[in-house]
Amino acid sequence: MNAKRSILITGGAGFIGSHVVRLFVTKYPDYLIVNLDKLTYAGNLANLKDIENAPNYRFVRADICDFDRIRELLAEYRIDGIIHLAAESHVDRSIKDPFTFARTNVMGTLILLQAAKLYWESLPEGYDGKLFYHISTDEVYGALELTKPEGVKSDISAHEVYGDDFFRETTKYTPHSPYSASKASSDHFVRAFHDTYGMPTVITNCSNNYGPYQFPEKLIPLFINNIRHRKPLPVYGKGENVRDWLYVVDHARAIDLIFHKGKVAETYNIGGFNEWKNIDIIKVVIRTVDRLLGRTEGEDMDLITYVTDRAGHDLRYAIDSTKLKRELGWEPSLQFEEGIEKTVKWYLENQAWMDNITSGEYEKYYEDMYKNR
Ligand code: NAD
Ligand code: DAU
Repeated sequence: MNAKRSILITGGAGFIGSHVVRLFVTKYPDYLIVNLDKLTYAGNLANLKDIENAPNYRFVRADICDFDRIRELLAEYRIDGIIHLAAESHVDRSIKDPFTFARTNVMGTLILLQAAKLYWESLPEGYDGKLFYHISTDEVYGALELTKPEGVKSDISAHEVYGDDFFRETTKYTPHSPYSASKASSDHFVRAFHDTYGMPTVITNCSNNYGPYQFPEKLIPLFINNIRHRKPLPVYGKGENVRDWLYVVDHARAIDLIFHKGKVAETYNIGGFNEWKNIDIIKVVIRTVDRLLGRTEGEDMDLITYVTDRAGHDLRYAIDSTKLKRELGWEPSLQFEEGIEKTVKWYLENQAWMDNITSGEYEKYYEDMYKNR
């Protein structure tokens, strides 16, 4: 194909990556989209069934830590843009096995950077028209305090009640978990490649995503599936931790905008000003699943089971994404109520997708993970 641009998306078989691949493949038929994924436990080609035969789409199974292979692929497909999402992404796994996170998230990112550097510097035009876009997380900023005043009604998402304390692009990095430490380290390498070699880079730090195709070890899909099967819902600690939730398609839209219009060497925070205490969002999920399954709304509240807290559990994340709105005009398109309704419906209507993942090997992993809590 004689493509206008050739873009490598790493981790495209994962949750967010599959939404980014889908958006780029369908929106830009004149781009070649190469999805590079190792297909770890979190990678699933079923996430991309609807576009797998598109003429501008290629899938390559490869490990970002395989330097020689990455170098070959960049040249073979004449890659001019990289959107890097491949990572180990689950905090609980990083607590059990930090080495895998250092390998993939730190070394893998460095290998990708070095391979891109060598390839792009070998071309007559050098870095002109090239971009290395690194997808990072709000967790690199550490944790915020809970400033919610006493007596405020629960079950609300308004960020105002939590005060004016947010993660901004200027917030100092203070990662706490092995996962966030590995992501912070990869961010530093990306900035170093810009500052040292002049590679055109951009980094975005996004808050918690939710939506279709999320691996069911993460809070929302795990709980939807457990409610359906009337299994206990393991709430860490007192359920008071706060997360800032964004519908995954809105994240993909932001990535598209920043890839095309973002300023080189900049950082942009992405978030929906949509903070929820875990226990409040869990109650919303229970009520929504119950209603959509024709049960009495709230009848599954007794599945809530408080368990030992996550080690080093960050209290609150909250992203200030006003820079992205001010400079590039991005805003989330979906209200939370609509997003969560769509999400719950999707999981309930795609039980085969879920069963495929939750049977067999994963079932054993999940049992081991929770046995000791
Ligand atoms: P995910 O775990 O669902 O998917 C990760 C993908 O990367 C999988 O397809 C996996 O097979 C692939 N992968 C892992 N190791 C690889 C390797 N060595 N080589 C090639 N491919 C490999 O993750 P996600 O939730 O979609 O997150 C994607 C990115 O977005 C990550 O970098 C994560 O840090 C970041 N992020 C996630 C969230 C969130 O809420 N999920 C929020 C902000 C940022
Ligand atoms: O903030 C962005 C990050 O969001 C991403 O960088 C990570 O890749 C992504 O996994 C997510 O991290 P969290 O740790 O916030 O997500 P998780 O879904 O694991 O947990 C959300 C909250 O719910 C957290 O406070 C822990 C809690 N929790 C989670 C699980 C899986 C529970 O109480 N019980 C559970 O069983």
